[in-house]
Amino acid sequence: MMPTTERPTSASSVIAGADDVTGKVLAAMASTPDARLSEIMNALVRHLHAFAREVRLTEDEWERGTEFLNRIGQATNDTHNEGILCSDALGFSTLVCLLNNGQAGATETTAALLGPFWRMASPLTADGGSLVRSETPGPALFAFCRITDPRGRPIPGVEVDVWQASPVGLYENQDPTQVDMNLRGKFHTGADGRFAFRSVKPAGYPVPTEGPVGELLRAQQRHPYRPAHLHFLGFKPGYKTLVTQVFVDDDEHLESDVVFGVTRQLVGDFRPGEGPPPTGDAGAPWYRLDYDFVMEPGEAKLPKPPIK
Ligand code: BEZ
Ligand code: FE
Repeated sequence: MMPTTERPTSASSVIAGADDVTGKVLAAMASTPDARLSEIMNALVRHLHAFAREVRLTEDEWERGTEFLNRIGQATNDTHNEGILCSDALGFSTLVCLLNNGQAGATETTAALLGPFWRMASPLTADGGSLVRSETPGPALFAFCRITDPRGRPIPGVEVDVWQASPVGLYENQDPTQVDMNLRGKFHTGADGRFAFRSVKPAGYPVPTEGPVGELLRAQQRHPYRPAHLHFLGFKPGYKTLVTQVFVDDDEHLESDVVFGVTRQLVGDFRPGEGPPPTGDAGAPWYRLDYDFVMEPGEAKLPKPPIK
């Protein structure tokens, strides 16, 4: 006997079979007042259910999947963000970046994924100053950059964060031999939109592989390397915050970045320096990078720092 309190079938979430689940879940969420939340959750449920149907997901696989998500959370702390790493390794971060930059994906962009290593409050550094704050091996790098709007007009007063791994492939927060904030700095563009700094030529490095994402990469027989790069974040009210990276052109992993961050536009021209370096304290060999960024008009909004 049906209980007398049973709601009419159309409003009931009692499930008649596998084909009934998706519609019932969508109906249960239909009164979401926030229109964007409603749109996102509706699409997520439809795609998630379609995915389970397409691969005929087994109960064991469902259990492994939920455990994988739990372990991503458990592996995340103040100094490591496994969630962002997972999104990066699936190409999801790059997809979202390209959909939201370059006139909403219509044109090329100098934007790229943020990655898990940006930190707030990097040291304000004078134009032309050095990111090297403790003894760091490797060839010197002198970078000369410019930021313009899409019409090529220089943008003065952009606050630019720069961060990079050392020539042994470690960010300072991963490496006790580097002082706090080594190879990180904040600059301001001048009236001509330019800023310059001294650093060391970065090396490529493996993304962290001790967590569940590393396990997945091994199961897929994928290498964990990123080609060498410098990170930049440009911020100025009136412009869409520019998050990007510039890649070293001779890196062996340029064509196989594990997190899909490389676009042709982001490959820098790292030229071996000729003659004496711009500052006397640098020895040979040294490198020079000249790179121009474009910032689009839009909302200046800082991302939430992935680590403290
Ligand atoms: C990075 O470039 O800092 C990075 C990006 C994605 C995953 C790991 C590291
Ligand atoms: Fe990086």
